[in-house]
Amino acid sequence: MCGIVGYVGNKSVVDILLDGLEQLEYRGYDSSGIAVMCEEDIKVYKAVGKLQNLRDKLKGHETEFNNSTMGIGHIRWATHGAPTLLNAHPHTCNCGNLVVVHNGIIENYKELRKSLEDAGCIFRSQTDTETIAHLVARKYAQCKDLTEAVRLASEEIEGAYALCVMHNDCKNKLVITKRNAPLLIGIGDSEYFAASDVPAIIKHTNKAVYLEDNQIATLTPDSMEIIDIDKNNITPKVEVLPWEPVALSKMGYKHFMLKEIHEQPDVIRNILVGRLHAPDEEIILNEVNLNKERLRHLNRIQIIACGTSLHAAMVGKYLIESFCGIAVDVEASSEYIYRKTVTDEHTLVIGVSQSGETADTLTAIRQAKAKGSHILIITNRPDSAMAREADSLIPVNAGIEVSVAATKSYIAQLMAFYLLSLYMAEIKDSIASSTLTSLKTELMILPQKIEQILAHKENIQTVARAYANTKDFIYIARGINYPTALEGALKLKEISYINATGYPAGELKHGPIAMLDETMPVLSILMNGSVYDKLLSNSEEAKARNARMIALTNSKDEKLNELFEHIIRVPDVQELFSPIIAVIPLQLIAYYIAEFLGKDVDQPRNLAKSVTVE
Ligand code: G6P
Repeated sequence: MCGIVGYVGNKSVVDILLDGLEQLEYRGYDSSGIAVMCEEDIKVYKAVGKLQNLRDKLKGHETEFNNSTMGIGHIRWATHGAPTLLNAHPHTCNCGNLVVVHNGIIENYKELRKSLEDAGCIFRSQTDTETIAHLVARKYAQCKDLTEAVRLASEEIEGAYALCVMHNDCKNKLVITKRNAPLLIGIGDSEYFAASDVPAIIKHTNKAVYLEDNQIATLTPDSMEIIDIDKNNITPKVEVLPWEPVALSKMGYKHFMLKEIHEQPDVIRNILVGRLHAPDEEIILNEVNLNKERLRHLNRIQIIACGTSLHAAMVGKYLIESFCGIAVDVEASSEYIYRKTVTDEHTLVIGVSQSGETADTLTAIRQAKAKGSHILIITNRPDSAMAREADSLIPVNAGIEVSVAATKSYIAQLMAFYLLSLYMAEIKDSIASSTLTSLKTELMILPQKIEQILAHKENIQTVARAYANTKDFIYIARGINYPTALEGALKLKEISYINATGYPAGELKHGPIAMLDETMPVLSILMNGSVYDKLLSNSEEAKARNARMIALTNSKDEKLNELFEHIIRVPDVQELFSPIIAVIPLQLIAYYIAEFLGKDVDQPRNLAKSVTVE
């Protein structure tokens, strides 16, 4: 989603801004822009499309920025108004003296716009952001203090925002603020950075302050002053950022997505470190701050998430119900927040989110927290807003995920659910200890099994190419792999734009079967276990309607060759672990089809990595 970079210091600012924006590109955007404080006045440059278009536009203007050491930059993911030059940030007030970049959504922008227009402001864009530029400019005209102007404006703004503001009168002062949107300050040597995410600044510093909601920071090369909305001074809490710059390199892979798929064996090993030492030892999950007595008597869990994280949550439900016998509801966060949810202090609410910033999930967990539920967060970003709301926090340590299509974070979330459900089963004594030992043994060898799949990925590439020109794709599965079918279909949709759908195979005959003919590929996730035979029958039904049949299987049954045109074989695994093994070829199929079609694999159109608006 949108990204912000700001800088005030002693170095040439344009490269810092462009480089910072490039590091945020992975989040998804459709236009970009920068504003630079030049000797005379602020200069603004914007471009539609890729950041390269902005770079091209800046060519030949280098001398304008020779001595410039302060500026702000933005990549925009359109919400209010199409991705056009006029709607791109930064936005300015009418006299051009004040510029602002903004992430989030101003909910009362229509009312604000109306009153600003009545007062004589002329709007040039369709954005909600432009209201902020006019509003802060008017406040500044009254008080002649940029920090105070931002503070006064934020009293009138409703919604979510991270803002960076500059004014021509303040040649080395950057004012930033936030509410329900991430914003951090990087601390360098006589320089400060502002950014909506760590990758934008990690090359320059790993010392940072996470601004909290309704705080306003005033940054100059030599000072950082933070106040709250009531003008109280805040002592900043300086943190050391966990990310290494090297994590943002493709390391020789053509795309980040392919690199991240290959990192999955290590992601599993990482999450097990310190939590599972040996199959006959207990799982250590100190992160769960619920005492054993409470865990033993827990009888209801709700899991809320979006997108890929929602699919991990669905597998999580299956695991917790199987291992612990506790009833689990799973719901898309965007649905959860707009109905009367029955939750209370006896319910454990689990929020799952790669980014920890997804607005719908954040709102949902805040609602549940307000009702007294214990909030457990499973996230890849222990520095995120959700992590800060958590009563219990399981960081999944997958490392930064750059590709918009989630892969390794999904595997890490699944692992968090395996550990959590087995941990609770041990406490509840709900599984025989010999079964627990065998489950833990299998858990520990999953990385080798994934490595076997990755070592023979040519077959998967061949299958993918055979279906690259299809318009539609159906994935079927049952039981614990139904979410795998949804995730496989989501991956294909996201990066190849092919219409792909996942179905519980038993539902095929209640409608979707009408679509089947010789043009329709049907991929059956046929893993050994309780639903194998049922799924085989459903595959026969699809074959009888002439669908093009593909099997993803760990069965050695030679008879499958008669039914399926293509077979992708994966290592055998107990049914309960099959989601981990089955999803890898599905990630690769999506990747190879998109790559073959020449799509922008890492930054698919219209998508954002971190969706910070509801
Ligand atoms: C966006 C991303 C998806 C992700 C979803 C939920 O739509 O493109 O890949 O699954 O958000 O994000 P979260 O960070 O909460 O897991």
